[in-house]
Amino acid sequence: MVTSRSGIISLSFLFALAGCGQGSDAPEGEVKSAAASASAQCAFESTKDGSSLPVKAVESDTPEAKEFLATCINPYTKRYVADAEAAKEGRKKFAYYSCTQCHGANAGGQTAVSIIDERWQYAKHDTDKGMFETIAGGTNMGMMAWHKQVTGNPEMLPTDDILKIIGWLRASYQGGGATPWLD
Ligand code: HEC
Repeated sequence: MVTSRSGIISLSFLFALAGCGQGSDAPEGEVKSAAASASAQCAFESTKDGSSLPVKAVESDTPEAKEFLATCINPYTKRYVADAEAAKEGRKKFAYYSCTQCHGANAGGQTAVSIIDERWQYAKHDTDKGMFETIAGGTNMGMMAWHKQVTGNPEMLPTDDILKIIGWLRASYQGGGATPWLD
C-alpha cells in the first residue's frame, strides 16, 4: 500500500517536471537538432532528369561511404590529393570496372571525354556530389549508370568504389583554376 502510493507520487512529480520544461525552448531545440544530424542524408539527383537517385547507406558500407552519404563530402578526395600512393586504390577501381575503355588509362580521354581537365560536361562535376550523381546514375549522352543500387545489379559498384575513383580523379586533375572539391 505504501509502495504503490509513493509510486503514484513520484509519477505525478515527473509529470509536473515535464510540464515545467515545456515553457523553455532551449532544451527542446537542442534535442531536435541532435536528432536531425543523426539522420542527416545527402540527397542525390539524377543527371539524366533531376529525379531522386535511390542511393542509401547499407550495412556493408565503409565508414567513408557512410560519411559521404550523410555529409555529401568524399573523405578520399583530400586523402588522395595529399598521398599519391593511397590514390592508386582509386586508379585500380577505375581499371577494374573498365572505365579506361572510354576514358583512357589515365582518365585523360579516349573515345569519351577527359575527366581530369577543367572542361566539365555538367557544371556540377566540380563537386564530388555532382560527379557521384553522374557516375552512379549515368547521363543521357553515353554514360551508363554504375551504382549497384541504381542498376539493381550486385556486380556493379558500391558507393565506396565510386568515391575512391572520384578521389583518384581529383588527385590526377590537370586543369587549372579553382578546385572547389578541396574547399
Ligand atoms: C562506354 C563508354 C564509357 C564508359 C565505359 C565509361 N564512361 Fe564515363 N562517360 C562516357 C561519356 C560518353 C561521357 C559524357 C557524357 C555526357 O556528356 O553526358 C562520360 C562522362 C563521364 C564523366 C563526366 C566527365 C566530365 O568531364 O564532366 C565522369 C566523371 C565519368 N564519365 C566517369 C566514368 C567512370 C568512373 C567510369 C567507370 C565506372 C566510366 N565513366 C565509364 C562514356 C563512358
